[in-house]
Amino acid sequence: MTTTQARHDDHSHDHGHPHHHGHDDDFDWAAMADLLELEGETHSPYVRQALAELGDLSPRRILDIGSGPGVAACRMASVFPGAEVTAVDGTPELLARAAERAERLGVRLRTQAAEFPAGLAGLGPADLVWTAQVVHHVGDQQGALDQLAGLLAPGGVLAVVEGGLPPRWLPRDLGFGRPGLQERLDVAMADRFSRMRAELPGAVPVVESWSGMLRAAGLTGVRSKTFLVDHPAPQADGPEQPVRLSARRSLERCRDTLADLLDDVDLTTLDRLLDPADPEGVDRRPDVFLLTAKTVHFGTAA
Ligand SMILES: C[S@@+](CC[C@H](N)C(=O)[O-])C[C@H]1O[C@@H](n2cnc3c(N)ncnc32)[C@H](O)[C@@H]1O
Repeated sequence: MTTTQARHDDHSHDHGHPHHHGHDDDFDWAAMADLLELEGETHSPYVRQALAELGDLSPRRILDIGSGPGVAACRMASVFPGAEVTAVDGTPELLARAAERAERLGVRLRTQAAEFPAGLAGLGPADLVWTAQVVHHVGDQQGALDQLAGLLAPGGVLAVVEGGLPPRWLPRDLGFGRPGLQERLDVAMADRFSRMRAELPGAVPVVESWSGMLRAAGLTGVRSKTFLVDHPAPQADGPEQPVRLSARRSLERCRDTLADLLDDVDLTTLDRLLDPADPEGVDRRPDVFLLTAKTVHFGTAA
């Protein structure tokens, strides 16, 4: 059973862009649904591994703040079938995907639309608050963490997924173009990320020491653990193979969003990697892999 409790009147920051579901950054989250779901699935072993770190916590109420299409939320609903799990996000299209996913998988999931940080108030109390790759989209990250910590019931755990390592899909030397493409994509991405953060309304610079920020939010027993995501080559053939598809979707996104930060040689290389007919493209070359690392920062409410 899937319960949907969308509050569509919560989009307090909406400023009218047709694709801009109220968030104060440049992301068209609804259009990223496929990529987010695919990433969630290809990274997915890490959520179960992180939940195993919670020891004997048996949460009755769980919030996934910024759930996107609900891959982690559904995982939590299946690991804790007795818990009430709520996927919270500012993009209704993604919440609809989360609800569909829950129905398909036969897990219980509620959804709630909320814009952060304003919409965080009143969501608690919860025994587990999970938030993955979301806090960095809020201008005042420490303020957001303070609010998230405030949603915890006594003894409840906040799990924040941030940092980790950027993904790798391809060898350093592709046999064409200039070796080291992925490192240059990382640099361009970091540049864009910094610009995105600086342009967020109410952006507050902070030392991004996640464990330090969790402690500053008043949490105890703070610790971080990193989980390897390792899908080595060779992967099965075919453009729909999830690792190949996630490489394609991510490189397409780089091609679209980083074009002004890359030189012509790298843009030509990206075009070749994305050409479905090219045997050296990501759909067909035998050496495509996915290697990344997800870091989860845990803290407990006193
Ligand atoms: C990078 S995605 C992460 C999705 C999921 N947690 C994961 O790990 O795959 C960020 C999510 O946060 C949501 N989001 C970002 N900024 C938000 C804001 N200010 N208010 C509400 N939701 C926001 C987006 O709609 C998107 O679903």
